[in-house]
Amino acid sequence: MSRSVAPLFEPFAFNGLELANRVVMAPMTRSKSPNGVPGEDVAAYYRRRAENETGLIITEGTTVNDPVSKGDANIPDFHGEALKGWKHVVDEVHGVGGKIMPQLWHVGITRVQENAPYPELPSAGPSGLVKPGKQIAEPMTKDHVQRVIDAFGRAAADAREVGFDGVEIHGAHGYLIDQFFWEGLNQREDQFGGDLTQRTEFAVKIIEAIRREAGKDYPLILRFSQWKQQDYTARLAPTPDDLGAFLKPLSEAGVDCFHASTRRFWEPEFDGSSLNLAGWTKKLTGKPTITVGSVSLSGEFIGSFMGESSEATGIDDLLERLEAGEFDLVAVGRALLVDPAWARKVHEGRFSDLMPFDPKALATLS
Ligand SMILES: Cc1cc2nc3c(=O)[nH]c(=O)nc-3n(C[C@H](O)[C@H](O)[C@H](O)COP(=O)(O)O)c2cc1C
Repeated sequence: MSRSVAPLFEPFAFNGLELANRVVMAPMTRSKSPNGVPGEDVAAYYRRRAENETGLIITEGTTVNDPVSKGDANIPDFHGEALKGWKHVVDEVHGVGGKIMPQLWHVGITRVQENAPYPELPSAGPSGLVKPGKQIAEPMTKDHVQRVIDAFGRAAADAREVGFDGVEIHGAHGYLIDQFFWEGLNQREDQFGGDLTQRTEFAVKIIEAIRREAGKDYPLILRFSQWKQQDYTARLAPTPDDLGAFLKPLSEAGVDCFHASTRRFWEPEFDGSSLNLAGWTKKLTGKPTITVGSVSLSGEFIGSFMGESSEATGIDDLLERLEAGEFDLVAVGRALLVDPAWARKVHEGRFSDLMPFDPKALATLS
């Protein structure tokens, strides 16, 4: 007999944002916004998830205003002409009672220069390292670092202006903010480098800029991960004490909610406890947290980029942890990419109707 799904459909609130339930759509890059402007198809894609009981949508990564912030012309911008497209997305989602935040992104040194807009400009990273030991560019100048901090602040003010319900900062997966967090790519000797606590300074300055530009009452999520696309086994914080030292300055700077990105939500983060990364983050900061990683699917997401399918599975373990208060919200990625009605089906107990993940879904915006 399956567990009750009721804990997943209880309301939740943080910093004034009232969510109807605990289901969050995970940010997923779709690269379907020609010239960086999200169109009608993108708006309809998000609206379909909202009208099917997804409590909060976090959009695909959308890039802040810096010429080298994105790696592909079809990734949506979060400045200029794109803001009109985003306003339409927000209106569509709000029109059916949904909530939505953009995921603000800068890819940093992972940008493949030749394939990106402005191919004449070098990609930007804290120390110019594309992976540990391999330098491909000059370190970012202090002036460039400041311009990116300002761009995040501006983007949050624009998000508020356009009507978004808050913002998520992409501090995970080895992109720019995470490049500053990670010793392997951050060898700076100025205020933005140093030990793990000191390497949070870039993110702290971004959080402060967002607070200044968009207000203290504007909901702010920070996504972070131990793993990096450059190294799946990398760990920013090998022990709970390290994790506490990493999270403290970020929490104090004004993060409302932490989105702890893992590939399998059930994996214990440290020996001696079953708590996952979101569980530890909640315990250490006292702030709300979002868990993520293979919810209702048999295989994890990196495999899906290699063409692997995943079967639909039950969610009893997830429900048990949620009910126990280990974390507060649950982000669902591929299961919601393939099926806009995932949340409604779960709410109605229609588990046999849940769809497997087929990588062919990556080609469409259904
Ligand atoms: C097609 C695709 C695109 C993604 N793009 C992003 C992104 O833009 N930003 C981000 O933080 N994570 C991104 N992710 C990771 C997801 O947010 C999520 O953490 C991951 O898919 C694990 O959740 P799942 O197992 O439920 O799919 C992406 C994942 C997929 C499958």
